[in-house]
Amino acid sequence: MTPSLIYRSAAGYELLMRALYGRHYADRMRAVAEQVPDGSSVLELCCGPGTLYLRHLRGRVGSYIALDVNDRFLRRLRRAGVDASHLDLNRPDLELPEADVTIMQASLYHFLPHPERIVDHMLSVARDRTIISEPIRNLASSSLPIMGLLGRRAADPGTGGHGQRFTEETLDRLMAHHRERVLSAFTIPGGREKVFVLSARPAWHSPPPRQPAPPPTPRRADRSGTAGGA
Ligand SMILES: C[S@@+](CC[C@H](N)C(=O)[O-])C[C@H]1O[C@@H](n2cnc3c(N)ncnc32)[C@H](O)[C@@H]1O
Repeated sequence: MTPSLIYRSAAGYELLMRALYGRHYADRMRAVAEQVPDGSSVLELCCGPGTLYLRHLRGRVGSYIALDVNDRFLRRLRRAGVDASHLDLNRPDLELPEADVTIMQASLYHFLPHPERIVDHMLSVARDRTIISEPIRNLASSSLPIMGLLGRRAADPGTGGHGQRFTEETLDRLMAHHRERVLSAFTIPGGREKVFVLSARPAWHSPPPRQPAPPPTPRRADRSGTAGGA
């Protein structure tokens, strides 16, 4: 299957994203990049044209691996010297490499109606954290039927069936399953995407804080005058 028009060229895709996000276009990736600690190894799923890495992470992270199904995007990234591989993340035998930070931006809707599978995968290979940033205001969920149709048609990566989108409520509901891992959650400027930063380990996995030792209890005075009470 061929990808829909917006996925056919990196330039076309970026143009549409610029139109969609307006003056907040750069902010959406800056908001995610700021959550990546310096020197981390990074695995980005559904990297698209790789803008997050090329504009915001290169030179600051320890290593970077990009995965996507779009060979046009991947070829361009490889020409730029990026470790970019073709992988359909819907494969039943999916195996991911480990990394300090795993990231997915604006792509979790591709895994509806069962997004939890890929989120669990990302968490299982993350040594430090998983960052998910997902649109919560979409053309595809527009109340105007024609806009909705355009939005849904426009985002077929070539694997078919990508009409569903998240709302803030459905995304929050999914992330509630990981509430003990949430380090932060916030919307990007303009409010189109919501970012969740999840710890690789749930809070209850860290050892409980050490309690100070109680003061020694004073020995009761022996009033009997006989040792051992005999
Ligand atoms: C909306 S784009 C997001 C690209 C980039 N992360 C961004 O924020 O601009 C979604 C990306 O997910 C990729 N994708 C969709 N389904 C996929 C799958 N099953 N496996 C791997 N990549 C997939 C598409 O090829 C596309 O590059």
